[in-house]
Amino acid sequence: MDKVAIIGAGHVGATAAHVIAQRELADVVLVDIAGGIAKGKSIDKMQAMAIHGSGVTITGTDEFSAIAGSAIVVVTAGFARGPGMSRTDLLNKNASVIRSVVAQINTYAPEAIIIMVTNPLDDMTTLACEISGKDRSKVFGMGGVLDTGRFVYFVSQKTGAHPASIEAMVIGAHGDKMIPLVDLVKVAGQPLNASLSREELTELADRTRRGGAEIISHLETGSAYYGPGTAVAKMVEAILKDTKEILPAAVYLKGEYGITGAAIGVPAVFGRDGMEAVREISLTEEEIAGLRDAADDVRNAMEALHGQDA
Ligand code: 2OP
Repeated sequence: MDKVAIIGAGHVGATAAHVIAQRELADVVLVDIAGGIAKGKSIDKMQAMAIHGSGVTITGTDEFSAIAGSAIVVVTAGFARGPGMSRTDLLNKNASVIRSVVAQINTYAPEAIIIMVTNPLDDMTTLACEISGKDRSKVFGMGGVLDTGRFVYFVSQKTGAHPASIEAMVIGAHGDKMIPLVDLVKVAGQPLNASLSREELTELADRTRRGGAEIISHLETGSAYYGPGTAVAKMVEAILKDTKEILPAAVYLKGEYGITGAAIGVPAVFGRDGMEAVREISLTEEEIAGLRDAADDVRNAMEALHGQDA
């Protein structure tokens, strides 16, 4: 059985662990500086698996050495953006968390594939790519699968179609500048733009862009976790089962779409070697411009971070 380590036993990490275990994709190790939370949740999950009938093992600990031998390490650790906290504050605080987590991964599981989840996602993925010394095929971020799930849900609500009959993709930033590819949506093979007006398509794209914020506004404290955790499990499944699925993910670009030196959401092939190939699909000029704009934001964030290192 493969082993997947999840750093951060908060709601997102714990949900990812649960879905991975329930689907029997891998044994799971939950690591958190609050070891009691990781331990307590892992025991609760093992009892849930006994009821469910899944034979995988879930352990919880505050010891980083427990990640040794993991095929994949999922990084959810970090601060959530709290009231009065600017994007820059979050960037700085989580960058220091990511620096120490990546160092631990390089020590205890140097061969592992890293899936980044910590926000700001594209910035943290870029940072992890730069400091890990790993090939970009082994370090990438989960954002697009979640945003695409939200988009599919809204299209499904609008059209009445089953989500499995809907083909859609969201690329670009995991944030306000995400790009739901409205003209590529198909419902049962038929282009959605043939049956909905431009206003209706724009409305679906806007609602997708606000998808995370909408949930936060209802929860009042905290943000989404069932969607994010399930999206992580989907990426883990594609990798461990070597499906070669094309999924949108934050990938460090090296010239694709005219972008270099930033991780941003693009379609890519996922299999046992991780991110096996970036797919360059045809986009409108506006979409390409949106992608490059988001990449500029990431590079600016990296400059701000590195400026402080100096
Ligand atoms: C979300 O989109 C906050 O990134 C998190 O729900």
